[in-house]
Amino acid sequence: MTNVLSAVVLSSIFCSVFTARPEIVDDILPEVKKQGQTAYLNCSVINLQSPAQVQWIKLTTSSGDPKHISSNETVLIDEVVEGQRKYDLVKYGSNDSDIYQLIVRSLTETDAGNYTCQIYLPNQNSTEWPRDIVVVAPNITWRRGDGFPLPNGGFQQRGGTYDINQIQATDRGQFICIADNNVKPPASFTVQLGVRFAPYCTPVQDTVGQAQNLRFHAKLGVLGSRAEVIWYKENKATPEKEQIQDNDKYKLEQQDDQRLKADEKWYTLEIKNVQGNDYGDYYCTGKNELGENQAQFQLFETMECQGQNCPSVAGKAPSTYQVSMVTFMIGLIISFSINKCLQR
Ligand SMILES: *[C@@H]1O[C@H](CO)[C@@H](O)[C@H](O)[C@H]1NC(C)=O
Ligand SMILES: *[C@@H]1O[C@H](CO)[C@@H](O)[C@H](O)[C@H]1NC(C)=O
Ligand SMILES: *[C@@H]1O[C@H](CO)[C@@H](O)[C@H](O)[C@H]1NC(C)=O
Ligand SMILES: *[C@@H]1O[C@H](CO)[C@@H](O)[C@H](O)[C@H]1NC(C)=O
Ligand SMILES: *[C@@H]1O[C@H](CO)[C@@H](O)[C@H](O)[C@H]1NC(C)=O
Ligand SMILES: *[C@@H]1O[C@H](CO)[C@@H](O)[C@H](O)[C@H]1NC(C)=O
Repeated sequence: MTNVLSAVVLSSIFCSVFTARPEIVDDILPEVKKQGQTAYLNCSVINLQSPAQVQWIKLTTSSGDPKHISSNETVLIDEVVEGQRKYDLVKYGSNDSDIYQLIVRSLTETDAGNYTCQIYLPNQNSTEWPRDIVVVAPNITWRRGDGFPLPNGGFQQRGGTYDINQIQATDRGQFICIADNNVKPPASFTVQLGVRFAPYCTPVQDTVGQAQNLRFHAKLGVLGSRAEVIWYKENKATPEKEQIQDNDKYKLEQQDDQRLKADEKWYTLEIKNVQGNDYGDYYCTGKNELGENQAQFQLFETMECQGQNCPSVAGKAPSTYQVSMVTFMIGLIISFSINKCLQR
């Protein structure tokens, strides 16, 4: 009885030793050395016995054929890059596990992809061959310099290229790409995207009131891309648009502001000493080689002084420039010279 039992136990031990399946142990962590950009991929296998074979395979595209790089210690691709073999295989043995190290030299973008280490078992269904996949690709992410969402949505996008569909004026600005392949520090590169577009104008407040008073001023403001900006007033009698010049009556200004994009400016028209014939329609036209756009304003008469700097509330800061910086809008801003108001 005991003999039978031990025979059974023995034979099962014998069997299990004989049929011990080859296995891939440990995850494959790509080691990419910056110097010469060489990748080392370790595939650790145990229980490898004839006729099993350790193979390194690269999946080029999801549809394309797999590229067989190596079989056991033999490299199957005879490629030489910069005087060195593109691929090499070095076998390290330690106790019962063997490391089949694939070396990929002179890495370029085309080397990015999925590398599979598999154990070919001639008599078994290929779906049961032990496999491990490692992805060799620098981790490249894109984001915007100003922290706003990317044109196609989201704040970050992976991949070496970033395509922008149907580019718009609001897409312009800095894009930063960060490549991280675990070699510290990650490399980053900034791309300045310029977009050429016809200036456009959207009034935030297209009508504004002011009392008739020689000491009051009205100011019309435009936030726009750098362009040739011309102001007009409609002549009520003709009615023709007459170009406004910088003179005793009108003050034309343009200003930079650090809150604006590099190609944006503030354009303002100040109407000094508001009188009866100042009421009416005003136009601001922005023009460049790609087109032109205009915004219309209306200045109308009120009983009381309008704006934050009127005598009763004098001292408050003018409420200029409260216009969205993201879109290019045109605002109609009333402001008064504090000095003039206080002189009353
Ligand atoms: C790969 O194996 C070699 C030899 O054992 C070892 O020196 C190296 O550190 C291993 N690399 C990784 C990423 O495990
Ligand atoms: C790979 O190695 C195994 C065992 O080490 C051996 O049985 C097999 O024949 C080898 N294959 C090739 C192609 O050398
Ligand atoms: C590579 O592997 C990743 C995940 O591991 C997968 O999403 C991707 O489709 C694979 N690419 C190819 C070409 O097989
Ligand atoms: C090999 O195996 C022995 C006994 O299991 C162990 O003491 C030793 O550290 C192992 N060596 C390596 C390199 O893993
Ligand atoms: C291999 O296994 C898969 C799933 O287990 C099965 O669909 C397929 O028919 C098998 N192929 C062969 C040749 O046995
Ligand atoms: C890639 O980089 C992003 C952002 O830095 C990070 O969240 C992600 O975990 C990284 N992925 C890998 C595989 O390193």
